[in-house]
Amino acid sequence: MSEEQMNDSTFNRLFIIMIIAMSVIAVLLMFVATFAASDVNERLDARSELENSNSIAERIAPVGAFAAETAAAAPVVVAEALTGEQAYASCGACHTSGVAGAPMLGDAGDWESRVTKGIEALYANAINGYTGEAGMMPAKGGNTALSDDSVKAAVDYMVEQL
Ligand code: HEC
Repeated sequence: MSEEQMNDSTFNRLFIIMIIAMSVIAVLLMFVATFAASDVNERLDARSELENSNSIAERIAPVGAFAAETAAAAPVVVAEALTGEQAYASCGACHTSGVAGAPMLGDAGDWESRVTKGIEALYANAINGYTGEAGMMPAKGGNTALSDDSVKAAVDYMVEQL
């Protein structure tokens, strides 16, 4: 064997070892990549789900905001026994200022002819609603969540202020 031939066979051996080593590295990298990307579909699904839910939230946002405004403007009082003063919260919008012909709280002139009907008649008109010459009194002042007793208490409260 000449020196040149030895060098060639050394080179060939090195070359084969390198090819094997690179193949092993390539296979290892494939495993690492497969492992690292194994949940890529789940992550994509999660992301599009999040984007969808965000856009749904955006689309329904104006409705939610409107509902919140309505709730703030007209507090709904639950049907439990309230004091007259508490229940009057549902009446004050009209009766404190006399809006739309409502007899004003504490104004004896406005109430005189009404009180003579008797308290039971006033209760009934406040509970069921009443349209007279002055205007339209909505049933329970528009707050149907009020119990009859709470409405009666509010009427008592209004009559007491005279
Ligand atoms: C949306 C406005 C409005 C609200 C709210 C309202 N009222 Fe009235 N109420 C009126 C008007 C208007 C009249 C006068 C109707 C008429 O005589 O033409 C009236 C009349 C009345 C009368 C006299 C009825 C009669 O027979 O003469 C009573 C009692 C009364 N309201 C009680 C209440 C009570 C209690 C509440 C709250 C639970 C309430 N109102 C809330 C508008 C309102």
